[in-house]
Amino acid sequence: MDEENIKNLKEALRLSPNNTLLRLHLAEMLLKANQLVEAENEFKTILEIEVGNIKAKRGLLKTYYEQKKYSTAIIIAEELTNSDQATPDILLIYAQLLYKENEIRDAIELYQKVLVLDPTLTDPELDKNLRNFNAGGDVEQNNFVADLDNSLFEKPDINFDHVGGMDRVKEEINIKIIQPLEHPELYAAYGKKVGGGILLYGPPGCGKTHLAKATAGQISAKFISVGINDILDMWVGNSEKNLHELFESARRNAPCVLFFDEVDALGASRSDMRQSAGRALINQFLSEMDGIEYSNEGVLILGATNAPWHLDPAFRRPGRFDRIIFVQPPDLDSRINILEILLKGKPLNDIDFKAIAKKTDNFSGADLRAMVDICIEEKLRASFKTGVPEPMETKDLLKAAKQLKPSTKEWFSSARNYALYANDSGLYDDILDYLNIKK
Ligand SMILES: Nc1ncnc2c1ncn2[C@@H]1O[C@H](COP(=O)(O)OP(=O)(O)OP(=O)(O)O)[C@@H](O)[C@H]1O
Ligand SMILES: [Mg+2]
Repeated sequence: MDEENIKNLKEALRLSPNNTLLRLHLAEMLLKANQLVEAENEFKTILEIEVGNIKAKRGLLKTYYEQKKYSTAIIIAEELTNSDQATPDILLIYAQLLYKENEIRDAIELYQKVLVLDPTLTDPELDKNLRNFNAGGDVEQNNFVADLDNSLFEKPDINFDHVGGMDRVKEEINIKIIQPLEHPELYAAYGKKVGGGILLYGPPGCGKTHLAKATAGQISAKFISVGINDILDMWVGNSEKNLHELFESARRNAPCVLFFDEVDALGASRSDMRQSAGRALINQFLSEMDGIEYSNEGVLILGATNAPWHLDPAFRRPGRFDRIIFVQPPDLDSRINILEILLKGKPLNDIDFKAIAKKTDNFSGADLRAMVDICIEEKLRASFKTGVPEPMETKDLLKAAKQLKPSTKEWFSSARNYALYANDSGLYDDILDYLNIKK
């Protein structure tokens, strides 16, 4: 077919040799057909007639490159680039040429520019070479994505029973994501759409990550926790690709809980987001979450953040994080419950759970755990002397509690302001309720 076309074009050109448009067409056909010497001649002929013909110059560059005439090719590439006449594909060739000339830094810079201009223009070979070079330099390689299917999905050995309090949050998770997974037919019967994720927010240490993991354990699904730095990549365009790989891997590992920790970092324009990856990465995340192109069936999406106010509102639309739940510091009953969980199976002597819970107002679950850890260390020391495990007692735990400061208060001092002044359609009413502030 190409041969036929080439023959016809040649015939046409014989009749009107000055028709550069036609000749350009022929030259490009020859290039495509890998008839490089002829292509080179045709491009040159055009340039003899029209010195400034950009398309012919670009074509000539490509034929030189294909013929491995690198030193000549690089001159044209440089000229096109300097005069702003290089298209992304030309820049890619230029980057390849620079690499071959051992101008690695320049090659990297240019290659990154190409990826910004056109993320589809990747060159695996060049990519690998430039990365290898960088591995010895200041940028680490992204092993996270490479390891995705191997080890990063875990099978948690905890379930809801290991999470104290948080009854409302457990119920929401149950209704919104667990039941749809277990009874898809019921949802279908009512024509109710399944999908979307839950965003947990609140002060540190109150069990967001713990609960996400337990959610996976609850339904014997796999679990993976992802932070923004696991996805970010030095190559523009690659962060989005990593994110896509992550979702794909989660789909292969379904049923699983895909947990995004500190998700606000992804949705906020941060200075540590390299280059301008921010917006593109957000868009990638949103479209993966929408699950239109690829089904997210069996992939339960949870996110957590200490700073929901920094999250781009687009994340909260239906089908995305359309349930936003406040994970508050454990109340008295929850603290009792958490203590029971934390102390279960340990050497104890008649513990007054309620007394300890009363003395640990504003403690987070993590604070309670720290308290228990301090107490255990004390008891271990005593046990070394006696040679038997010394049981923990109420007074030991109260003593340990005194050494700690509740860590949740600080968070509320800033959260309060957002709840008061940026309470977009009542989004943070739960915080106001918790603080006993009238709306
Ligand atoms: N409700 C709870 N029940 C049992 N243990 C809890 C609970 N909340 C917290 N913990 C304990 O505290 C530890 C820290 O909690 P976790 O990491 O889940 O907090 P977080 O809300 O994710 O905090 P951050 O915002 O800092 O990420 C947990 O590993 C767990 O041992
Ligand atoms: Mg956490």
